[in-house]
Amino acid sequence: MIAIDGPSASGKGTVAQAVAQALGWHYLDSGALYRLVALAALRARVDWTDARRLAGVASALDARFTSGDAWLGAERVTDAIRTEACSAAASQVAGVPEVRAALLARQRSFRQPPGLAAEGRDMGSVVFPDAGLKVFLTATVEARAERRYKQLIEKGIPANIQTLLRDLRERDARDAERPVAPLRQLPDAHLLDTTAMSVDEAVAKVLAWQGERASSR
Ligand code: C5P
Repeated sequence: MIAIDGPSASGKGTVAQAVAQALGWHYLDSGALYRLVALAALRARVDWTDARRLAGVASALDARFTSGDAWLGAERVTDAIRTEACSAAASQVAGVPEVRAALLARQRSFRQPPGLAAEGRDMGSVVFPDAGLKVFLTATVEARAERRYKQLIEKGIPANIQTLLRDLRERDARDAERPVAPLRQLPDAHLLDTTAMSVDEAVAKVLAWQGERASSR
């Protein structure tokens, strides 16, 4: 079990996915679950302050992942959950303890042989505290905004670097300062700062740590 936590747009999704693929393991994008809850709640017009109904949406979530795609029932929502509006909404619903509790068992069910690489904010602290390897993957907020900017422009989506910076800072603060499952580097997590690193280098580093662990057992 490898738990990779870190702030928005740090590249942890890309790295965790590549690590899972290299090891032939399963992969969990826990942020996608919060995004799916946000999308389902937006569509059902659930009031953001109604924790009970939000938890109901999370428990009843008809979500599925296929290679590279996310599904809400029969609808492919891969792009819909990645919009800036849905990102902001996901960060809101993720602050509701009842929603987090409702998603716990679902996240743990991804842990299947031969292994799981999971990424999010609380993989190492709450969902898989006994993970064999914990990584805190981060980069400066400027580097993260720059990467997000390039991704959006490549997809033909207009973007503004100042707006992206502001949104990332807001989301970082909300994720780090919330009372439930705040994002922080655990004492037993390896720090991986990817500001000046390529994806391949970051993946190689995580695989090297995993190799060290496997050989020391
Ligand atoms: O990782 P991603 O940016 O897709 O996550 C979307 C939102 O879900 C984040 O802003 C964060 O607030 C929340 N999240 C969380 N705990 C996780 C994963 C994501 O609170 N394990």
